[in-house]
Amino acid sequence: MSSNQFAISDLRSLEDTHTSGVYPKRSPVIVRGEGARIWDSDGREYIDCVAGHGVANLGHCHPAVVQAVTEQANRLITCPEIFYNDQRAQLLARLCELAPSGLARAFLCNSGAEAVEAAMKFARLATGRTQIVSTMRSFHGRTYGALSLTGQGKYRKQFEPLVPNIEHVPYNNLDALSNLVSERTAAVILEIVQGEGGVRPASNEYLLGAQELCRQHGALLIIDEVQTGLGRTGRLFACEHAGLEPDLLCLAKSLAGGLPMAATLFGERVGELPTGAHASTFGGNPLTCAAALATLDVLVSEALPQRAEQVGGELMARLQQTSLPVVREVRGLGLMIGLELKRKVTPILKALQERGVLALPAGATVLRLLPPLVIEATELEIVADNIQEVLTEPG
Ligand SMILES: Cc1ncc(COP(=O)(O)O)c(C=O)c1O
Repeated sequence: MSSNQFAISDLRSLEDTHTSGVYPKRSPVIVRGEGARIWDSDGREYIDCVAGHGVANLGHCHPAVVQAVTEQANRLITCPEIFYNDQRAQLLARLCELAPSGLARAFLCNSGAEAVEAAMKFARLATGRTQIVSTMRSFHGRTYGALSLTGQGKYRKQFEPLVPNIEHVPYNNLDALSNLVSERTAAVILEIVQGEGGVRPASNEYLLGAQELCRQHGALLIIDEVQTGLGRTGRLFACEHAGLEPDLLCLAKSLAGGLPMAATLFGERVGELPTGAHASTFGGNPLTCAAALATLDVLVSEALPQRAEQVGGELMARLQQTSLPVVREVRGLGLMIGLELKRKVTPILKALQERGVLALPAGATVLRLLPPLVIEATELEIVADNIQEVLTEPG
């Protein structure tokens, strides 16, 4: 039976009846996307600052990705990593060429949490140590290892006990880190901007200090760029802002232009991994590799990181200059922007949606914008106008 044989209310009730129930739902039934716009089944158009939780950096259905996926789907969809493959070989080479210096190898997988799991395992293997230091308010995913690194009680509590030997220290605080990192530490894991934790950028000084501490104690530095990666913050990799050279780098979300794909890049301090130490059935499949190759080409040829820096900077300046009593702070980097509010964000998100703008929360009081990097300046104006209007309405 095709979807257009169902009434819209039937589609909602089918999902409500059979879905896992773990997601909070918003009412539109989304059926189509193009650039920074998506449409619901009633034909209603939205400017999409959710972008699949920061997946659609290239916008929805970018023609280069659609073409690459269509051509590859007609040629070869699946091929495990026990065989060589043309698309995978090219992607690995391109990714490592573009990555911060020293990251010459990559493990390919399918989600952010998997990329983080791989980084944890590789760090433990390479150092023979077990302690991993993470930060409070961080988010690294929901599988057991990644959840154990996540520094937010609301995600962890119901699933304890978690993986042992993981410590959480205050973010952006070098003293706290230096009190803990020692010869027992396998790795320190950091986001360049804490995303789910409230859109909180770290200072370059902190990041470089963390790298130095890791080097001093023989610990590895894992940078989780699942959300900040691939252009969003104004650089292809957000760690370029500080000139970091991480030992492990986690990517996911936008890597394959909307298809599920992730990667854990690593350098010589991780070294050679033993054959059989880790694997993924779908990891490095030709379809997502072809999509990722097309995605990287577009990011570079259309200079999307530079665009994110420019239009993101303009939007942030405008939001900062608009004096809105309900806004405590506007912060972010490139097109990763958060507005810390003095009230709950959920009704604001609802009001924006009614006006045709989709946005995200980051905690209870932060309004988060993760628009596609191709978003037009005029679309960002509409977003800013609507935010301003909604936030001036009586709460
Ligand atoms: C920084 C960071 N790491 C890891 C993850 C987990 O990614 P996934 O949901 O693909 O497992 C996320 C997801 O939002 C993230 O923002």
